[in-house]
Amino acid sequence: MTNLPRKILVTSALPYANGSIHIGHLVEYIQTDIWVRFQKLRGHQCYYVCADDAHGTPIMLRAQKEGITPEELIARFNIEHQADFVDFAIQFDNYYSTHSPENQHFSNLIYKSLKEGGHIERHTICQFYDPVKEMFLPDRFIRGECPHCGAKEQYGDHCENCLKTYEPTDLKNPVSAISGETPIEKDSEHLFVNLSNFEAMLREWTGSGALQPEVLHKIGEWFETGLKAWDIFRDPPYFGFEIPDEPGKYFYVWLDAPIGYMASFKNLCDRKNVDFDEFWGKDSQAEVYHFIGKDIQYFHCLFWPSMLTAGGFRKPTAVFVHGFLTVDGEKMSKSRGTFINARTYLNHIKPEYLRYYFAAKLGNGVDDVDLNLDDFLQRVNTDLVNKFVNIASRCVKFITSHFEGKMASELADTALYQQFIEEGDKIAEAYESRDYNKAMRYIMALADRANQYIDTHKPWTMVKQAENKAELQAVCSQGLNLFRVLMGYLAPVLPLMVNQVEAFLAAKVFWQPEPLLAHTINPYKPLITRIQKKQIDAMIEASKESLATPSKKTPPSSVTETISYEDFAKVDLRIARIIKAEHVEGAQKLLRLTLDVGEEKPRNIFAGIKDAYAPEQLTDKLTIMVANLIPRKMRFGLSEGMVLAAGPGKKDIFLLGPDEGAKPGMRVK
Ligand code: MSP
Ligand code: ZN
Repeated sequence: MTNLPRKILVTSALPYANGSIHIGHLVEYIQTDIWVRFQKLRGHQCYYVCADDAHGTPIMLRAQKEGITPEELIARFNIEHQADFVDFAIQFDNYYSTHSPENQHFSNLIYKSLKEGGHIERHTICQFYDPVKEMFLPDRFIRGECPHCGAKEQYGDHCENCLKTYEPTDLKNPVSAISGETPIEKDSEHLFVNLSNFEAMLREWTGSGALQPEVLHKIGEWFETGLKAWDIFRDPPYFGFEIPDEPGKYFYVWLDAPIGYMASFKNLCDRKNVDFDEFWGKDSQAEVYHFIGKDIQYFHCLFWPSMLTAGGFRKPTAVFVHGFLTVDGEKMSKSRGTFINARTYLNHIKPEYLRYYFAAKLGNGVDDVDLNLDDFLQRVNTDLVNKFVNIASRCVKFITSHFEGKMASELADTALYQQFIEEGDKIAEAYESRDYNKAMRYIMALADRANQYIDTHKPWTMVKQAENKAELQAVCSQGLNLFRVLMGYLAPVLPLMVNQVEAFLAAKVFWQPEPLLAHTINPYKPLITRIQKKQIDAMIEASKESLATPSKKTPPSSVTETISYEDFAKVDLRIARIIKAEHVEGAQKLLRLTLDVGEEKPRNIFAGIKDAYAPEQLTDKLTIMVANLIPRKMRFGLSEGMVLAAGPGKKDIFLLGPDEGAKPGMRVK
């Protein structure tokens, strides 16, 4: 490794802008942040950028559901995400959004180069289409029976029961998860990137040491099955960037998402006067690293280098892939309360405990990482409280109360101090290669030695012997100096504690420092407290609450999920007079109602009440309707609201009627 300051650009994957950050995400952001802090601590010029991944169908649909624009939705999550990151001491040099002018610029540029390079082809594909929502359905919005094992309620692309994958059009009895309607098959012409044009480049780059062995193995399998052309095109409605020469059509979110790395960096460069080309230019000598989870390797190891090559940019120096988080050996689970949001964790436990625990568990492979809750408590209390912080707390009180805060003017054991300094190279190597678990082991072994040193000299006995005062000062100063060296080694993991330590030592913490001699320190405040089991229990309980969803099998008579008064107040209930009720041809349960709601035009509504009422019973009756429901397109026509009824169904449905004196259009309160 060179000693010159290196120029390094680091990214973490961009979290989707329609959900909260959870502890699974934090594996990655903490892993990356530790690495970046380590590089900065060693004096390198290192930038860490990220952004929200703001485009795509799920974001568009969630905004619709909330009755807000996608822009409003992504702005809200951007604020929430940034607050979570700040509170976990994850320090980006820039946190941006893929919905940005810089990103649109680079996306257009790369698309244009792909096109001019002859890498784009057109194919007509047949997809499921929701006739009510009038949109093509992404695989995850289709449910049906598995074509292999018959399991019900399976996703459009894979079965969670037999784990087989298939085409959505192979599903039996498919339904749209958005409207509940049966989707139809519809053709549309899409643009594809011909990935096989890049095969030679990809083989060379993937083999150049840019990938971990496990990842390389996976890529090898993909080469063997053949590189499929990549669909970068989406039909409207879609929230994304419009394709410049295909008006009304959009780039697929995964085209502009990785370009978001560049766009976020460009935004930083423009604000901070950093040379963009020095990092992304074709001949860049800088290093570029992407930290990602194992679920998104394909995008980063095949698509992304191809896009960069086409666009005339350099390729990443390496892609660092990590595994998934499990809690107590199992997938995070909402019902068990182990699907823990970043904010829920922060409400109960200090952020640095999780940072330390992940550091103690993370190696440089792609294995899954387990957060074992008992082990978490043990590990943090043993390593951080009993071993590490104990060194300082055992020494500092003697220096403050017997020597007015002044440390000895010479080291008591220079050789020991020197050994601590020399171990730094090994620890640095472990950080550099992302073997944080190794680094933590080395550091804790040194903490054990520092504690042994104190145990051997017993300052608590010395203090009782008048002739040993100078030795007491020397031993405690030695202890504090060793502690400071270790704080330097732990600084990438525990940046918040560094601030506290610098405050009481009245000195900076750095990597392999000179000892503090004849130096006066400040009064000491405890640095850390033990985690209690009850904090962990409370966090698990709160996770059950914060994500509670009503069970699908709630019996009909029980009350399901509660809603806020605000939600209730949004429902516009009106008195309606049934002008006309009629049978609907071909419908088994529906009656068509024409309703007078006091508006200019009567409303048309389909109500599933045919078993309970004959049309003639209903004419001229008053009822209550929901007047502000989004109109729903049904097979028989548009339904512009809903009438309220009670009862278990079939014959036992009772249309709600108001008291006499009510008039059509009156608000029901
Ligand atoms: N938006 C895409 C990434 C685009 S990058 C150009 C995405 N977002 S995500 O929010 O689903 O995930 C962000 C990162 O967190 C990914 O690297 C993903 O692998 C990681 N993790 C999400 N859940 C995780 C766990 N449960 N465990 C570990 N990492 C996880 O993918
Ligand atoms: Zn199946």
